[in-house]
Amino acid sequence: MTVTAAAPAAAPTAPAVTLDEQVARNPSAYRILTGDRPTGPLHLGHYFGTLHNRVRLQGLGVELNLIVPDYQVLTDRDVAERLTEHIEGLVLDYLAAGVDPARTTIFTHSAVPALNQLLLPFLSLVSVAELGRNPTVKEEIAHSRQAAVSGLMFTYPVHQAADILFCKANLVPVGRDQLPHLEVSRTVARRFNERYGPVFPEPQTLLSAAPLLLGTDGTKMSKSRGNAIALSATADETARLLRGAKTDAERHITYDPENRPEVSSLVLLAALCQGREPEAVAREIGGGGAAALKRTVTEAVNTYLAPMRERRAEYARDMEHVRAILRAGNARANAVAEATLAEVREAMGTFR
Ligand code: TRP
Repeated sequence: MTVTAAAPAAAPTAPAVTLDEQVARNPSAYRILTGDRPTGPLHLGHYFGTLHNRVRLQGLGVELNLIVPDYQVLTDRDVAERLTEHIEGLVLDYLAAGVDPARTTIFTHSAVPALNQLLLPFLSLVSVAELGRNPTVKEEIAHSRQAAVSGLMFTYPVHQAADILFCKANLVPVGRDQLPHLEVSRTVARRFNERYGPVFPEPQTLLSAAPLLLGTDGTKMSKSRGNAIALSATADETARLLRGAKTDAERHITYDPENRPEVSSLVLLAALCQGREPEAVAREIGGGGAAALKRTVTEAVNTYLAPMRERRAEYARDMEHVRAILRAGNARANAVAEATLAEVREAMGTFR
């Protein structure tokens, strides 16, 4: 018996190419789909967590699709309140942040019937036990404002798979909490392809590199906690929120996220807006204390947001135009969804 030596493993000279680098090298190979529930205005946490990166990827030439998942609002509450207002506000926030409606498709998922129809075959590919195990769904049930947990709550990760797969997106930039859902999307794509033939890509998750910003009370920045600085807030509202921000008893300002989370989050926010390192910002303020820190961060945020606020106001002067952008996005999404549904019917052999 001859023994052949196994080929030597590639020497670990260079670090593996990250997903970010792969995207930058070959932007046209990627199609992004991501979105935000229309439950209120987007804030700085959203912006530095993901919005900023989406606009950067759009600039690289990656195809960007933004879904406004309006049905998903009904997962953890009984009634979707002020839906139209929130949807239009979200579109304004996107446009203000630099989303280019000529290149990027913005749409609401309730306006795309063929997308929603994918939910039916997709549901047949997952078990009830799998739906019940999803940690993010469990977490949302624990904090739900619903009288009873609805079927929509349990199945929304599969609905989200339809959001992503209807346009065959292969890249989904989201936060860590969405990882279990992306796993569901990959599972659905894989099982569909195994059962009926290759139709869907298995989408990859692009996790945000930006560190978490805290709200002005030192807890997670969130629209429902009243601790968030909305992109649409005025300069005065921003100043008032930041003046009331929680700090600590130590006068000398340092960047120490572990031991001084509130102060460090403010330092980080100023640094992100100024495009500097947080350590440098902290050093500069030093003995100036919390008052100087708040002055610095207010000035930095208001300067940074000024052009976005201007763009937002400009778009808001003509809401009919904003609604036309959404209608055009819905029409594009419908064409794509119908083409995919036709492929799905073909693969499944349903009557045509
Ligand atoms: N579940 C996401 C959230 O709560 C929103 C969302 C719906 C989404 N459909 C999506 C995100 C598709 C990425 C891809 O924030």
